[in-house]
Amino acid sequence: PNRFKVTVVGSGNWGTTTAKIVAENVAIHTNVFDPEVRMWVFEEVLDGEKLSEIINTRHENIKYLPGVKLPSNLIAVPDLVSAVEGSQLLVFNVPHQFLSRICKQLKGHISSKVRAISCLKGLEVDDQGVRLLSDYITGELGIHCGVLSGANLAPEVALEKYSETTIAYPLPENHYPGDATGETWQMLFHRPYFHVRVVNDIAGVSIAGALKNVVALAAGFVEGKGWGENAKAAIMRRGIIEMIKFCKIFFNKNEIETFTQESAGIADLITTCAAGRNVRVGSEMARSGRSVEEVEAELLNGQSAQGMVTAKEIHSLLENKGLLDEFPLLEITYQMAFNGYDIDNLPAFFEKIR
Ligand code: NAD
Ligand code: 13P
Repeated sequence: PNRFKVTVVGSGNWGTTTAKIVAENVAIHTNVFDPEVRMWVFEEVLDGEKLSEIINTRHENIKYLPGVKLPSNLIAVPDLVSAVEGSQLLVFNVPHQFLSRICKQLKGHISSKVRAISCLKGLEVDDQGVRLLSDYITGELGIHCGVLSGANLAPEVALEKYSETTIAYPLPENHYPGDATGETWQMLFHRPYFHVRVVNDIAGVSIAGALKNVVALAAGFVEGKGWGENAKAAIMRRGIIEMIKFCKIFFNKNEIETFTQESAGIADLITTCAAGRNVRVGSEMARSGRSVEEVEAELLNGQSAQGMVTAKEIHSLLENKGLLDEFPLLEITYQMAFNGYDIDNLPAFFEKIR
């Protein structure tokens, strides 16, 4: 029987965590999946040792997920093209500023029958407008791609503390016998500590995941000012309104339930604003007045707060489209992050846009 071979493209904090999950599941569902999972590692050398070799010998990603034992059927591969060779299922999981280079390298090496899931939280913005990252992957590589997103702080999931997630995987038009379905992806990711619900709303799930990072930055800014939980809740309330509106204006989708009822929606907004890297970085920037580069270098050891990248991209998109006034929280977050807009002005600003 044809079993699906799986590669995880990426090995950061979340990349390694999802690779652990997937490797655990293929070892259980051996009739459906090949029992070995490959994980592409952007190679780096730590104290004279290659990270990929450390992972393969010590079964631990000591830089991006220290202290968590990885399954021995998870194989780190530093060469990107070799890592995906012969795999039918690809799990993309890298910070989104690296995605375009990765796709360029993979172009021409992947069969159109291959299927993918994007675990990235971000959007692709260029002069033409905005695209979902799953659509970007489809456009670059010619493969169907769904999305996984939810209230999933990687350090908690890695320790097998209970959480839920959302997978959006509508079947492609060129679906063929033996092709992966939403159920296949669910089998690949569902664990007793990681519950998966499958939906069809790729746009809602993706936009919620991307924009909550920007909202969390703003939540971090008010946290850093010492304003407390009520202020943070106010930011979150405005945030979810703009997330839903963004989905409607740019993708003509209005499935409110994705935002209100799925893990990818309000649940992820809450968890990220409570303890994500974005809120921590925003908080420290506001507290110390230091730049994002300094704060990331101090707090994140090579990981990235995606909200900064997304805030900038959304600003240029909204400016190009003449829609800055429609998304005041997203815009003011950009201004606070990049242009020194004084956070103390927030209440007065909110008064104006009420
Ligand atoms: P991360 O923030 O840990 O980033 C580090 C990774 O980036 C490492 O694997 C590193 O090797 C890689 N990297 C550094 N420079 C690179 C380069 N030039 N080219 C390619 N790769 C390079 O990454 P992450 O936490 O795995 O995040 C991946 C995605 O998952 C992001 O979109 C993030 O928003 C999302 N996400 C993260 C979490 C979380 O809690 N960490 C949870 C859910 C979703
Ligand atoms: P941060 O990137 O802010 O850590 O958020 C992680 C996340 O996506 C939680 O679901």
